[in-house]
Amino acid sequence: MESTPGERESLANLLASYRVDFLPMQRLDHFEPGAIWPDENRVPINAHGAGLLHHAETFYWFGEHKIEGRAGNKAHVGVHVYASEDLYNWRDSGIALAVSDDPQSDITRECILERPKVLFNAKTGKFVMWFHLEPKTKEVSYAGAKTGIAVADAPAGPYRFLRSLRPNAGVWPKNVPEESKKPLSPEELAQVTALNLPGGPLPYYPKQLGFRRDFEGGQMSRDMTLFLDDDGTAYHLHASEDNGTLHISKLSDDFLSPAGEYVRAFPGGFHEAPALMKWRGRYFLFTSGCTGWAPNSARVSVADSIWGPWEELGNPCIGGGKAISTTFDSQSTYILPIPGKPDAFLFLADRWCPDNAIDGRYVWLPIRFRHGTPMIEWLDAWKLEELG
Ligand code: GAL
Repeated sequence: MESTPGERESLANLLASYRVDFLPMQRLDHFEPGAIWPDENRVPINAHGAGLLHHAETFYWFGEHKIEGRAGNKAHVGVHVYASEDLYNWRDSGIALAVSDDPQSDITRECILERPKVLFNAKTGKFVMWFHLEPKTKEVSYAGAKTGIAVADAPAGPYRFLRSLRPNAGVWPKNVPEESKKPLSPEELAQVTALNLPGGPLPYYPKQLGFRRDFEGGQMSRDMTLFLDDDGTAYHLHASEDNGTLHISKLSDDFLSPAGEYVRAFPGGFHEAPALMKWRGRYFLFTSGCTGWAPNSARVSVADSIWGPWEELGNPCIGGGKAISTTFDSQSTYILPIPGKPDAFLFLADRWCPDNAIDGRYVWLPIRFRHGTPMIEWLDAWKLEELG
């Protein structure tokens, strides 16, 4: 679906209100983290909470299409997709997954649809999209904590929405002791409910109760990513248990549902915005803390198996002065391994602008390895040759 003339007009107005003279008219040949990034039509790229897919020599950038103002924090259009061969110059490939006009649909206009990620399934030949979904409510609410799944025959779509769910209903995590594999007693349930957990860290967060509470209906799923391992197995990593605990959950062979195998990581650690990479056989997970749209310190964690145990290493940001404590005023969304370059990884993050959602910016930076640890280095402007 093309953007409507109204949307194009408001984007054009937006563009005109910036210092367009600073935007080069020639093809782009470098990254400028945080700057306005025009597509090949000279319209600012509108794809927030990005996920990238590399398929048949082309990169596809999927992200949340935002509109102006605070209204833009809800989904009015859907998932926008752009295509590129060089990662600098992006052509608008339209709306990959459109929100629905049907008020009964889970993805009806004004739902919250965030952090779309797409994988190609080599067995089925299909492209599969997962995203964080909050069904439409009157006020902004993240109580739904669901994941949505859509599928397409071609990388840019159109994607067909299949269903939304809370993962792993009726399944116990692989890494909990036998004695905790039991639903909450009514007293325990009343205790957790009374805490009225807000989704951010609290000293009294009950570290071992959330997954038991949600055993029957499925585990909460907010900020998320997908990861495709070398052996073709895919995983869904999602903030669960009121954001306090991250779940790492294997996908079925067709990638269309959870396979029913998962672990809990960092109980009580409050990690959001997961982005996972694998380097020299080890898994490195980048996350943020939980402070809503406001940026906080990034964290990098390591494990020899995706199932853990996971060890948190600390803040991976270097350079950029004080902004190392706010991930350069951004929040992780994806890590792109550069095809054919085993040591080259690109870190993607969002500089959110919740008061005028469309004006959120993209912060793409190189991953630098220091003593076997991937770090994120601030650069005002840089080229791909810097990677690896
Ligand atoms: C952030 C999250 C975003 C969005 C936001 C809403 O922490 O990473 O994707 O959900 O909260 O406040």
